[in-house]
Amino acid sequence: MFDFDSARKLVEVDDLKMYFPIHTGLLRRHTGNVKAVDGVSFDIFEGETLGLVGESGCGKSTCGRTVLRLYEPTSGQIRLDGRGLAWGNPVARRVRNRSDRVGNWAAGLVFTIGAGLLVGALVRGSVTGGWAIAGLVALVIALTLAALYGAAYVSRRMLMSSEGVSDKDFAPSEGALRRLRPTMQMVFQDPQASLNPRMTLAGIIGEPLSEHSGMSAKEREARIYELMDAVGLNRDFANRYPHEFSGGQRQRIGIARALALNPKFIVCDEPIAALDVSIQAQVVNLLEDLQERLGLTYLFISHDLSMVRHIADRVAVMYLGKVVELAPRDVLYDEPLHPYTRALLSAVPEPDPAAHETAQREVLQGDVPSPANPPKGCNFCTRCPQVMDICRRIDPEYLEVQPRRFVACHLHYEHQETAEATAA
Ligand SMILES: Nc1ncnc2c1ncn2[C@@H]1O[C@H](COP(=O)(O)OP(=O)(O)OP(=O)(O)O)[C@@H](O)[C@H]1O
Ligand code: SF4
Ligand SMILES: [Mg+2]
Repeated sequence: MFDFDSARKLVEVDDLKMYFPIHTGLLRRHTGNVKAVDGVSFDIFEGETLGLVGESGCGKSTCGRTVLRLYEPTSGQIRLDGRGLAWGNPVARRVRNRSDRVGNWAAGLVFTIGAGLLVGALVRGSVTGGWAIAGLVALVIALTLAALYGAAYVSRRMLMSSEGVSDKDFAPSEGALRRLRPTMQMVFQDPQASLNPRMTLAGIIGEPLSEHSGMSAKEREARIYELMDAVGLNRDFANRYPHEFSGGQRQRIGIARALALNPKFIVCDEPIAALDVSIQAQVVNLLEDLQERLGLTYLFISHDLSMVRHIADRVAVMYLGKVVELAPRDVLYDEPLHPYTRALLSAVPEPDPAAHETAQREVLQGDVPSPANPPKGCNFCTRCPQVMDICRRIDPEYLEVQPRRFVACHLHYEHQETAEATAA
């Protein structure tokens, strides 16, 4: 059982949105958005596995990729180990914009005046002593620009302290993001498609080491062998190509590549979906074993609710771009609160045929609405068996209804009257 009380938060996601723009017509005008992730919030504790489940197209992969900053989020906040990964803090964004604007204007002004003076000095210099004057003007420009950037830096610091913003609230620059990449990695669903068919196993595992570490060829080779041992790949296979491996072995290569730079956090996006059932358990056991040995933290995305029950400490359920319920694994499976979670879990086959025959199933009616045009109010209102009038008007808040149990549903919304009054 995961000890939440002593664990610290490694990943913090707050109101994350990832919209893909829709462009139509001859002029490719922006006419709407696919709201793949629409205001998702969750935390993942260090050493924990958070399962992410939901129907196909509900935004699981987009959520995982956005958390890793493989996509630029539309809005929202992501923190890894306390470090902001996105422009989530609107105050920080405002501070950066304001100080950049002032700095750019001042620098532009000084540069224009300075360039004018310089040209003037050179023209006059054709008479006498021009180069000396030009040199002096250039020096004055350089000193003024340095003073201006210094002043801009000091004023930004003052603005940050008055707005209560720290360095961690700023999105990292491209360079800083590149330096953070080793700490967060991804294991993909299709090991065949995610491995370069023209590279050998050693080349694939060694690629991130060449990109991000200053290891010598000898050190890199030693690390490649160490990783192959860790995921159970025979060292003799180092010079083989991906097509020479089975599906399970290819996924082991993908895991070894993800581990190469000692990451803290790994998004596993359906890592077993493309594998035979007999191999699935091996890969899941390997992931669990590596987690225990290396203290890894996982976001485990899967359709397979039985496998998620086995591997996850807590489970988040997504529907149409939103997390509708998040709870510790056992309470979520034993006593789901959200009508969608109940329907999803009731579809899981029972291992015992007798229990399977008698199990109560909740079959959902209707199709999943388009994420480009989600329904007003609760996203699930077009299919929910317990829909109420308020559900079609007001989007339910995502609230902690019991310790560590979050749900977005008016059935569990204690401030229903307030919400109705606000809407009226
Ligand atoms: N690059 C993109 N451009 C436009 N729309 C996209 C893009 N990627 C995903 N989408 C859309 O976003 C929505 C969520 O897709 P996503 O792949 O995240 O779902 P998923 O839950 O991972 O589905 P699955 O279980 O089938 O993998 C879908 O409607 C999809 O069509
Ligand atoms: S808010 Fe209403 S429609 Fe949505 S899940 Fe709850 S009861 Fe169903
Ligand atoms: Mg997916």
